[in-house]
Amino acid sequence: MKTIIINGIEDELFHTAAQALKDGDLVAFPTETVYGLGANALNPEAVKKIYQAKGRPSDNPLIVHIADISQIEDLVLEVSHKAKALIDNFWPGPLTLIFRKSSKVPDIITAGLDTVAIRMPNNPIALELIERAAIPVAAPSANLSGRPSTTECSHVINDLKGRVGYIIDGGPCDVGVESTVLDITSDIPMILRPGGITLEMLESVVGKVDTDAALELKGNVKPRSPGMKYRHYSPKAEMILVYGSQDDVVAKINELSAENRKKGIKTGVLSSLENAQKYCADTVIVTGSVDNLAQVASGLFDSLRKFDEENVDIIYSETFPERGIGRAIMNRLKKASAKVIKETEI
Ligand code: TXA
Ligand code: MG
Repeated sequence: MKTIIINGIEDELFHTAAQALKDGDLVAFPTETVYGLGANALNPEAVKKIYQAKGRPSDNPLIVHIADISQIEDLVLEVSHKAKALIDNFWPGPLTLIFRKSSKVPDIITAGLDTVAIRMPNNPIALELIERAAIPVAAPSANLSGRPSTTECSHVINDLKGRVGYIIDGGPCDVGVESTVLDITSDIPMILRPGGITLEMLESVVGKVDTDAALELKGNVKPRSPGMKYRHYSPKAEMILVYGSQDDVVAKINELSAENRKKGIKTGVLSSLENAQKYCADTVIVTGSVDNLAQVASGLFDSLRKFDEENVDIIYSETFPERGIGRAIMNRLKKASAKVIKETEI
């Protein structure tokens, strides 16, 4: 398939892409979180193409993107008071809300669930595209299934060129990690995936918010967001998360790198800005300062993808504080990692 790359809203082919989206083609587009791979949410045949292009398991439901609050009426059974407060505070923005679905939402979007995930992205290109196409747009992250999400057009081209009709270039995404997925179908809202809108921000609007126990990856609790059960976001090399005090982590990673070098194994390190100069590994990728977790989030998937370009055999990653957006960062790093080295093992 020929893939047409479109340079933002001003490109004369932008309108063509919006029409093609409406007519059933796939269009990858930027959002404030990550790039999305869009299809007409009201057309099951179009939505089927998303699963094929990504190689996505069919039991993993999709988020429906809207550009105007009025679009929600057709898609859900009811909008509660708490839902309304969340919408007023955080839309457009990186918050996906789970509602009970109406019969108009095709089953292929919700993977047979009786709920539907909806969000209004805070990105002018995404909003203009959805508005021009005049349909709700089903869109997962625009990466091959299992790979890190895409936060720059070049990432999308790497994964999906030849598999989709159009890719719209909107430059790098601001937030860098996906939206928070929040189930609001019961009285106390529950975070199913931490993301751009933090627990603290949600609680400031609706009071107590729970977090799905399965996110901690302890025991065999089944996650309520189907996508959370898969290994995910992974660079090609095996990644190992190293916990501990800064000095211990640096020393441990340097020790392992030296051992690897003797065996001819190429080592990569995902480092904070603060520690970058202290490593003697083959490749050190800096993802931002521990004092600026928003910056770490913003560069996270690009950093993971860079290890593929460097052809490293093994990656050791530092950990980041699990507060604010740090929860989303650590959730993605845990999902991307095959193993951890605990503080007690150092
Ligand atoms: O920021 C984002 O959310 C990006 C951009 C493109 O909007 N989209 C995104 O989509 O990350 P995706 O498909 O990669 O992740 C959607 C997550 C999955 O974990 C999926 O299982 C969950 O949302 N999800 C979708 N519908 C659901 C539902 N009805 N109930 C529970 N979880 C649901
Ligand atoms: Mg995804």
